[in-house]
Amino acid sequence: MTNREIHITYQEYNSVEELNPEDRELAAEAIQAMTGAYAPYSHFHVGAAVRMSNGQIVRGANQENAAFPSGICAERTAMFAAGAHYPDKDICSIALAGGVHGRLTDHPIAPCGACRQVMAQYQTRAGKPISVLMIGAKAIWKFEKVDDILPFIFDSI
Ligand code: THU
Repeated sequence: MTNREIHITYQEYNSVEELNPEDRELAAEAIQAMTGAYAPYSHFHVGAAVRMSNGQIVRGANQENAAFPSGICAERTAMFAAGAHYPDKDICSIALAGGVHGRLTDHPIAPCGACRQVMAQYQTRAGKPISVLMIGAKAIWKFEKVDDILPFIFDSI
């Protein structure tokens, strides 16, 4: 038997001002994307922004439905739209932000497991890391690759 360990590293910033210009822009887009949320049930508005390899930014927001499982998270809305609009481009990074009734949380919000799995597969498809930015009003976390938020990624390809 062998005990193994996994080390995860991430960066914590105190404000978006500390981010590099590209990440700052993506963070602002994710916050702006919250306005596109349709969340009449949870009232939790989530915005996501994806940067593509051609520099294009694609936004998404959570879309809820009376038949609850039919709704979808902001991150998958953004990633699927990005994939549909730019099928020959890679996703380089994704940022997300959210809050009750559209008021940004102080702490970063973390993506759900299903969204992490989708990020992981776009990362495999790209063949290079996708960075993940989780935005809060008082803290921002940056992970350099999806593996850092989803170790042991499922991959049947
Ligand atoms: N939600 C997201 O948009 N992204 C996540 O990663 C987790 C949750 C949405 C789904 C639902 O509309 C609302 O937040 C409350 O769960």
